Amino acid sequence: MPEPTNLMRKQAARLFPDSEEEQAQFLNSLLVPAKERQSAVIWTSADAPTKDGLDILPEKDLPSWLPERISFLAPQVRVGKTSLFESGAIYPMDVSSIFTASAMLPVKAPRRVLDMCAAPGGKTLFASVVLVPGLVVSNEVIGKRLGILRHNLKKTGRPNLYTQSLDPAELASVAPERFDLAIVDAPCSGQSLLAKGIDNPGCFHPNIIKGNAKRQIRILSKSSECVAPGGYLFYSTCTFARQENEGAIEKFLKKHDDFTPIEVPHLSEFESELSEFRSYRIYPHRETGSGGFTCLLKKNGESKDLPELPEALVQYPTI
Ligand SMILES: C[S@@+](CC[C@H](N)C(=O)[O-])C[C@H]1O[C@@H](n2cnc3c(N)ncnc32)[C@H](O)[C@@H]1O
Repeated sequence: MPEPTNLMRKQAARLFPDSEEEQAQFLNSLLVPAKERQSAVIWTSADAPTKDGLDILPEKDLPSWLPERISFLAPQVRVGKTSLFESGAIYPMDVSSIFTASAMLPVKAPRRVLDMCAAPGGKTLFASVVLVPGLVVSNEVIGKRLGILRHNLKKTGRPNLYTQSLDPAELASVAPERFDLAIVDAPCSGQSLLAKGIDNPGCFHPNIIKGNAKRQIRILSKSSECVAPGGYLFYSTCTFARQENEGAIEKFLKKHDDFTPIEVPHLSEFESELSEFRSYRIYPHRETGSGGFTCLLKKNGESKDLPELPEALVQYPTI
């Protein structure tokens, strides 16, 4: 049995101060990853999905809020090997990513969505399929990740998706208050990768966590400038460090009191105990997914007609 490092133990103690038993369960789920974790798929095709050929969990085993075009699969299914995946009819997601993405559900009929940290494309596709916005600008600042993002979006044949590769500060300057929803699925220390059996050295190191938190607050801040009055800012990570989650939101709110974290009623049983405001956590020792954090914030003001989007942002449609 592998031993947790001191940094892991310290973080577990901060996450579960009242239960040594839960600290041990949490650490165990990272050190001895479950052999088979349930996965999920988004039915991305514009046509009605044919669900034959996939081992889908029966409806009675699913959360009642699960949108129609998302399915949870039996743990043994290898989505990447199916023809449905090859053809772009389905896109695989970790179950935890579905839970965190589902914090977008209170956003109704957005006209425009910006996905600020988009590659490889899961949250863009979730928003496109479930919220059915007028258009999505799917942005990935790291140039070499743009190819996989475009490939994944294009394969689905979904309309109204446009890619970009701009720094969040550039997007904020060319498209202030132009979107009803900005998605920030932030780069993070990725501690939940351990629960999938993926090595991630240094992910508990304070310097790594601090560096990520600083970058996350900057991305949140620039993304918030793109949100129109009355619009929404969605935040998620796949890590457990408080500094990158509740802590990043707290620091963001200190300088942006025009935003308020709002309740996501269907996630109430996942509410974080580590913040005064509404935010939600999924843990790998409690749920079937590998873990994550999410928070949905609303910007003050009345929703009005959106100012025009600069031509440059819709130069690169995926189909
Ligand atoms: C967690 S991943 C996004 C996953 C994606 N949303 C999905 O659901 O498939 C975070 C992304 O942020 C990008 N990123 C890294 N540094 C960034 C920065 N300074 N500003 C914006 N995005 C950044 C990474 O390249 C990575 O693609």
